Amino acid sequence: MTLLDLVRHRKSVRNFLDRPVEREKIMMCLEAARLAPSACNSQPWRFIVVDDGQLKNRLCQAAFSGIYSMNSFCKMAPVMVAVISEKGKFLARIGSMFRGTKFYLIDIGIACEHFVLQAEELGLGTCWIGWFNERAVKSVLNIPQEKKIDILIALGYYDREKLGPDHGRKPIDKMASFNSY
Ligand SMILES: Cc1cc2nc3c(=O)[nH]c(=O)nc-3n(C[C@H](O)[C@H](O)[C@H](O)COP(=O)(O)O)c2cc1C
Repeated sequence: MTLLDLVRHRKSVRNFLDRPVEREKIMMCLEAARLAPSACNSQPWRFIVVDDGQLKNRLCQAAFSGIYSMNSFCKMAPVMVAVISEKGKFLARIGSMFRGTKFYLIDIGIACEHFVLQAEELGLGTCWIGWFNERAVKSVLNIPQEKKIDILIALGYYDREKLGPDHGRKPIDKMASFNSY
């Protein structure tokens, strides 16, 4: 598959199979994330992989109750990953402040996308999850309260037949132009 094929193939998965994910494959996803570029090579991220079934159930129970229950489909996912932002390098933080751009969030976005694309190549589905009870997740995973969990990723094998329709993206002429805004 070319990279473009892979990107076209990836869709958010909200329907997972009851099948464990091999550690070896998770390690490949982490390796892809590890090699992501970041401002000043700051690497301001930490991935906590939850593949222990009981802990994962506790995590999902905590993360997706009440107003967060729209994401309870994650309970089907055999693996959940919590992505935490760590303090970046001084230079990256200064640059970020002067530019008024949160470089660390860009960095984490790239690392997570490396992760999900590697997963896709391995036949694994993912869904980025931004809507969850962060305080409850921290408590289950012993993450200090002062840390920030920017995103969760649900990971697992899936049934491609059950995926939604097309990507529904804007056409290229609505999102890009050459030589002028
Ligand atoms: C930062 C971010 C947060 C997201 N949060 C959620 C979420 O909480 N629940 C969910 O079902 N999908 C979530 N998604 C998935 C998007 O809804 C999905 O990527 C988008 O609709 C495009 O669909 P596709 O991924 O199938 O191409 C999130 C995606 C991103 C990038």
